[in-house]
Amino acid sequence: MKIVISIGGSVLVPDGMDAGYVKEFAGFIKELSKKHEVSIVTGGGRLARNYIEAARKFGASETSCDIIGIRATRMNASVLISAIGNSANPEPPKSFLDAKKYLGAGKIVVMGGTHPGHSTDGVAAMLAEYIGADLFINVSNVDGIYDNDPNKNPDAKLYGSISIDKVIGMISGSSLGAGKYEMVDLLAAKVIQRSGIRCIFAGKDIRNLKNAIEGKKFTGTIVDRK
Ligand code: UTP
Repeated sequence: MKIVISIGGSVLVPDGMDAGYVKEFAGFIKELSKKHEVSIVTGGGRLARNYIEAARKFGASETSCDIIGIRATRMNASVLISAIGNSANPEPPKSFLDAKKYLGAGKIVVMGGTHPGHSTDGVAAMLAEYIGADLFINVSNVDGIYDNDPNKNPDAKLYGSISIDKVIGMISGSSLGAGKYEMVDLLAAKVIQRSGIRCIFAGKDIRNLKNAIEGKKFTGTIVDRK
């Protein structure tokens, strides 16, 4: 299978870099790449938010803040590349074409952001569409898609499955500000909708992610085409 994983910056850099998790995740990706063609898109997390917030205080435009955010996502990609080693591309590719070339050369692709105006979820969804991926996985620090913010509402219910149309309805009013994307950005959801890529949202637990990929029972949300 061709698999694209969008890993939230909040998983990699919740506060400082979670080196223990990066190591575990890198080991999982190397193992996965023995059977599958794997691409990872890393988010910016706290690193992106700290730098964006500082620049915004000095009056930087939202596009400038996005560019700062993209740099942070690439820093995180570089750390994951170091943890994976030679099986990954040496530098995060800046375009989908370069990512595809690395895949063609048998590498695990690890990249960050590309252009201003969306999050790395958007990048991962476009990469998945571009390379004709069989599976898109969004890994974040929540277990999947809830009917309400689980960090604010303890009664929030996790969807086992949900239609992409409903996801788009839930996020259609969300912000486009740098560093402010929530569950998933609208661009990512629209790309998933138009391309019909199989899509899963799950938490960071490695065993659970393995189960999701192997089609076994897992905790998370399957996004249906309709
Ligand atoms: P993230 O993908 O981490 O954004 O990119 P996020 O969803 O807000 O944060 P996580 O998932 O919790 O980590 C960080 C920021 O970098 C810019 C955006 O401003 C984004 O919020 N960015 C990233 C872009 O403008 N373009 C990209 O391709 C990627």
